[in-house]
Amino acid sequence: MADIKTLAVVGSGQMGSGIAQLGAMYGLDVWLVDTDPDALLRATNSISSSIQRFVSKSHLSQVAGSDALRRLKCTSNLEDLHLADVIIEAIVESENVKKKLFSELDKIAKASTILASNTSSISITRLASATSRPRQVIGMHFMNPPPIMKLVEIVRGANTSDETFSATKALAERFGKIVICSQDYSGFIVNRILMPMINEAFFTLYTGVATKEDIDTGMKLGTNHPMGPLELADFIGLDVCLSIMRVLHVGLGDNKYAPCPLLVQYVDAGQLGRKRGIGVYDYR
Ligand code: CAA
Repeated sequence: MADIKTLAVVGSGQMGSGIAQLGAMYGLDVWLVDTDPDALLRATNSISSSIQRFVSKSHLSQVAGSDALRRLKCTSNLEDLHLADVIIEAIVESENVKKKLFSELDKIAKASTILASNTSSISITRLASATSRPRQVIGMHFMNPPPIMKLVEIVRGANTSDETFSATKALAERFGKIVICSQDYSGFIVNRILMPMINEAFFTLYTGVATKEDIDTGMKLGTNHPMGPLELADFIGLDVCLSIMRVLHVGLGDNKYAPCPLLVQYVDAGQLGRKRGIGVYDYR
């Protein structure tokens, strides 16, 4: 695979904007794509303030910060991605919506382009089946917030080539990340373990074992996690947690992955976590 110079990220939410920021900070020309111009505006603001945080902590020079912002371009037109060397998809966690996007990207991208997905649990093999290049489709799962978290989980689909794997691993390492590699089974490594823990925290609350504060303090101080599981669920998004639990439940076919009714109820009520100002906790 030739040198990676141009990165495109589709989806400008928390994850997509964080990944685009990494690309720009580490010297790539970056296209950030979203159909919603307001989302692109919010993403640009959050990227500049995150870069400013790195500059103010002296983790990045002012010049490097300004250069990174200059390398970042926003668009709502997928056709602009025809020269990208790698395209990372970070849109909504819906298999059908992602498959449709992968099929469109397959037609627009150069023959050599790698199509990566930041999916947290959906099958890479099935996403690859929507393209004519399954050897060049791979999972590249960043953790939230991408500019800070050290890990990238790389997921090989059934047909991902060694060349695609090596190029993707090298890209993640260029971003200063530690790479772990997972086979393509529901939830991969991190969410296979993290989401049942979060779900169990909801059961612990649901069955009246303890208050939300005691559950979170227990896991923070008892196991040295930076956030308690309920606070973390609010940070990730309760809708995202629920959709991952459903993928585990269906994909692994075991009732131990059944989502807690309380988690389902929060999502039904629109209490999706920090992004809505209210989840398990009230941030308003
Ligand atoms: N941009 C730049 N800098 C940032 C930043 C951002 N977006 N967010 C935080 N920082 C920096 C802060 O400036 C601060 O820097 P210094 O240490 O140099 O002062 C440092 O990161 C810590 O930030 P804060 O003091 O604001 O807050 P904190 O100490 O509570 O840390 C946190 C925030 C890094 C998010 C921490 O709480 C944490 O690690 N939480 C757990 C996050 C986690 O588990 N993420 C994975 C979720 S699972 C996932 O993503 C997978 C999935 O598919 C669902």
